[in-house]
Amino acid sequence: MSKGHFGKFGGRYVPEMLIPALEELEKEYLGAKADKNFKNEFNHHLRNFAGRPTPLTFARNLTEKLGGAKIYLKNEGLNHTGAHKITHCIGHALMAKRMGKKKIIAETGAGQHGLASAAVAAKFGFSCKVYMGATDVERQRPNVFWMERLGAEVIPVSFGSKTLKDAVNAAIKDWIENVEDSYYLLGSVVGPHPYPTMTRDFQSVVGKEARKQILKEEGRLPKRVIACVGGGSNAMGIFSGFLKEKNVKLIGVEAGGTGNAAGEHSSRFNGGSLGIVEGYKSIFLQDDDGQLQKTHSIAAGLDYAGVGPELSYLQSKGKILFASATDSEALNAFELLSKYEGIFPALESSHALAYAIREAPKLDKEDSIIVNISGRGDKDLFIVANALKDKQFGDFLKAESSKDGYNE
Ligand SMILES: Cc1ncc(COP(=O)(O)O)c(C=O)c1O
Repeated sequence: MSKGHFGKFGGRYVPEMLIPALEELEKEYLGAKADKNFKNEFNHHLRNFAGRPTPLTFARNLTEKLGGAKIYLKNEGLNHTGAHKITHCIGHALMAKRMGKKKIIAETGAGQHGLASAAVAAKFGFSCKVYMGATDVERQRPNVFWMERLGAEVIPVSFGSKTLKDAVNAAIKDWIENVEDSYYLLGSVVGPHPYPTMTRDFQSVVGKEARKQILKEEGRLPKRVIACVGGGSNAMGIFSGFLKEKNVKLIGVEAGGTGNAAGEHSSRFNGGSLGIVEGYKSIFLQDDDGQLQKTHSIAAGLDYAGVGPELSYLQSKGKILFASATDSEALNAFELLSKYEGIFPALESSHALAYAIREAPKLDKEDSIIVNISGRGDKDLFIVANALKDKQFGDFLKAESSKDGYNE
């Protein structure tokens, strides 16, 4: 993996001064990969801190309603901090410890990665700075509140579009200035080599678990494995367990947003083009001058103009099919799973589910589908309440905000 390319994608396009740090990280990671103690410690914390393995739950009611393939849910929402992100954060925190670093730097969009980074920093004794676009700070206040309770410093980024890409730039700048004692904990299978490979490897535990679980339940492999794709960490994690299987179709679901025009969606494979941004080569939603386009999704974690280089490669080879689901399809899927199965999926994961809802009736009753429920929907309380126009919830918020504690 020394060059870190997946076909023409990937690589390491960073300022000269970061090359030694990335080379050191790669060398240390290869050492850790071959080290039994590292693996044992990783597995120990996955079990005892994250709560792995997560269950593979048969969605019996939803399956009966749709009348097609059996739908299984890989419930990553049952992880500590509510999403798959904690899995790779534990891996990276152990790397930081191995390398003798004292500080964790992270960026976050929706806040889930920031939350998981802050949690591992608290557990393993690192100081933690989380860069977050000022717009995201405003719309994801509950996660900011929780990150601060975990002891992290959340730094709003007020330049550019004040969202994830600007937070990434601010985090990289901090890392350049403090590379000696800081570990950059990137949030997905993106960024310069070796991050996409490392994060995929850490997440691959999800694919291993899901494969074993479906074979136990069904005695055969599923016809489809479906995951939502922001940067691509939950998708690469679960897909990696099935990549070699010719008869298992892997489907990545992007955010179709509210329409097809630029700025209305985040579907990189619907209008994106090859570019180099944030240290890696991949497919980006960008204008003719190579400036990243504005993106939109009801799910903050999918609202991103780039996608992991390995996903672009696998797409180009026809190994992963890409589709999209709109904001309203995702919201509908959220409501269906809540009412039929008693599970709130994250709005990100609801996109994968929306595709499964379309696909299941086309398949045979004997077939099965696995949907990666990458996170739980509790974090989306305010977005869902607003989207469903729950006036009483709005009244409750007004009454809450007038209480003394907020106004002193
Ligand atoms: C629950 C959940 N799912 C999916 C994503 C998208 O990230 P990725 O594509 O790296 O899995 C996020 C990002 O914040 C998330 O919080």
